[in-house]
Amino acid sequence: MLVGTIKEICQQNEYMSEPEIKIKLSYIVGLKPVVLKELKQHDFKILDETDDSVYVEFSDDMFSKIKHLRSVARAYVVIQSDKYHPTYLSNHKSVLGNLIDIILEVNKKSFKSFRINCAGADSSEVRSIAKYIEETYELEEKEEADLKIYIIKPEDTWEIGIQITPRPLSVRDYKVVNMSGAMDPTIAHAVNSFCNLEEASSYLNVFSGSATLLIEAGQSYPNLENLIGFDNDKKHLSLSIQNIKKADLIKRVKVKEADIFYKPDFGKFDAIASDLPFGMLISKNEDLENLYKTFVEYCEVKLEPRGRLVVYTSEYELIESILSKSQFKIIQSLQLKLITNANAYLRPKIIVCELKN
Ligand SMILES: C[S@@+](CC[C@H](N)C(=O)[O-])C[C@H]1O[C@@H](n2cnc3c(N)ncnc32)[C@H](O)[C@@H]1O
Repeated sequence: MLVGTIKEICQQNEYMSEPEIKIKLSYIVGLKPVVLKELKQHDFKILDETDDSVYVEFSDDMFSKIKHLRSVARAYVVIQSDKYHPTYLSNHKSVLGNLIDIILEVNKKSFKSFRINCAGADSSEVRSIAKYIEETYELEEKEEADLKIYIIKPEDTWEIGIQITPRPLSVRDYKVVNMSGAMDPTIAHAVNSFCNLEEASSYLNVFSGSATLLIEAGQSYPNLENLIGFDNDKKHLSLSIQNIKKADLIKRVKVKEADIFYKPDFGKFDAIASDLPFGMLISKNEDLENLYKTFVEYCEVKLEPRGRLVVYTSEYELIESILSKSQFKIIQSLQLKLITNANAYLRPKIIVCELKN
């Protein structure tokens, strides 16, 4: 059941003196400069910023615009107030109902289940909110749900939020299967954003894996004609071809079987991007230092004089030390902070280089 159009819901909120509805865009910690640049390009009005999120002005026509953002992991409609304690919400269910209406009006069919993430999720207040949602919207309460609702108090004020899409924005349609060790697509987008691809006509992805970097580059830079990647693992190559086909990029993106130690020759490139192998999963029998040295020497030869080399790795101290003795200079670096599946923190870096004159 919907109580009105998005415009009517916002007017009703204003009339009831409820706070303004906003959009919260969350991203991987460290990617803020990339996110702010993308939001500026698309004319979003920024209201507030934290380490991992930006709040932007809400308007009823912005959902499709948000879904195309490439650096953002998740998007939510949110409302904040000191009074939005679960007890208040259980007595004023329309506050949450209004937010649910906004999400369901855009794409009701995608949402069949819901979950409330909140401290005290078993309390009678939260249970009464869950019952209201079940009955009003005919949604089933589930652990792995489509409609993800949270009620939190990060600092001084309560915040209610609902993710606008069942899956995070960072989950891309082109991923046929998820390769272990594949890159987060928002990070791949960030790496590419430092490659000066607006001005480039050729792009090489060394250690291409499942082709996340290549596909992100192909989709974001339609004028980039020559996109080539290589990897020495047949399984990864076959996976990457499936992803490239799904992304409808098979005519523009080529992947080759090649080993960096044999210095394959595909010509020279305006940009080289690489998610370097690291950790046990990818290169347990390899000497990483030798691999990184060979990679840097290879890029010295294969990068056009005014080109960009952008690398991503958790082993940044090793690559920084090798780069410092090379023909490259580091012109920028970005440190990210990620939580792994095993709940550990990773602090990889994106390192942007140019050849010294
Ligand atoms: C971190 S993964 C790249 C993941 C990729 N960015 C993705 O999103 O799927 C590194 C890749 O380097 C490849 N690799 C490791 N040693 C290599 C070598 N000597 N030559 C070429 N590729 C190699 C691995 O097979 C793996 O696919």
